[in-house]
Amino acid sequence: SSPADFKGLKVLVTAGGTREPIDPVRYISNRSSGKMGYALAAAALQRGAKVTLVSAPTSLSPPAGVELVSVETAQQMYEAVMERFPAQDIVIKAAAVADYRPKIVASHKIKKQEGTLLLELEKNPDILYELGQRKKSDQTLVGFAAETEELEKNAHYKLHAKNLDLLVANDVTRPGAGFGSDTNIVKLFYRDGRMQSLPLMDKKMLAHRIFDVIRELRSTGNSN
Ligand code: PMT
Repeated sequence: SSPADFKGLKVLVTAGGTREPIDPVRYISNRSSGKMGYALAAAALQRGAKVTLVSAPTSLSPPAGVELVSVETAQQMYEAVMERFPAQDIVIKAAAVADYRPKIVASHKIKKQEGTLLLELEKNPDILYELGQRKKSDQTLVGFAAETEELEKNAHYKLHAKNLDLLVANDVTRPGAGFGSDTNIVKLFYRDGRMQSLPLMDKKMLAHRIFDVIRELRSTGNSN
């Protein structure tokens, strides 16, 4: 059984890969299954927190007891998260959010045509960046980073550019890490410059490990 060490705290977790519509039947998305985010939501519940799970489409059932907010696009996730952020103590962004969306969403199914088809993309809001801007000193903000190259450099950059308290970086090129699998291999990057490499572990165990770290950060006021 887990300690109720997050009792009285509100935790919001995002999960899954956003879908960015092209036309009524097609979308752009990514390989996120939602497993990492759902494991975090389940761990927070087990530890006594009040949990909101803002989820892009997945094939998983939400852990019993969470408040589920289902969204599809990055823009919808942005709105759902921003509205709820002021009331949260801890926010963890495990979702794989599309950086770009089709600039024009066709109102009818796009027909096959001669030659190539160009799809113009425009930027989505960076939810995590916005949260970092609005964060109060008693709120803890945890980001994820999915990298395929220069993991440490990119992780340090994201931790500071997005004003995070903790960044969980997965090297998604390693077998057993990142998208789709039941396990993950991550490095934790702290604000004080520390970096910690964790071995391959089940996403459920990793989720509890992340909450151990969050508890520690909050108890030393290190999270500001
Ligand atoms: O869902 P699973 O199959 O279990 O896979 C887990 C995972 C690989 C998806 C997860 O562990 C993970 O790494 N999630 C973040 C993936 C990602 O989008 O990384 P990124 O480096 O592109 O983004 C960095 C951070 O900014 C993330 O916390 C992301 O949620 C956030 N972001 C990104 C873009 C954007 N427009 N808004 C954001 O908030």
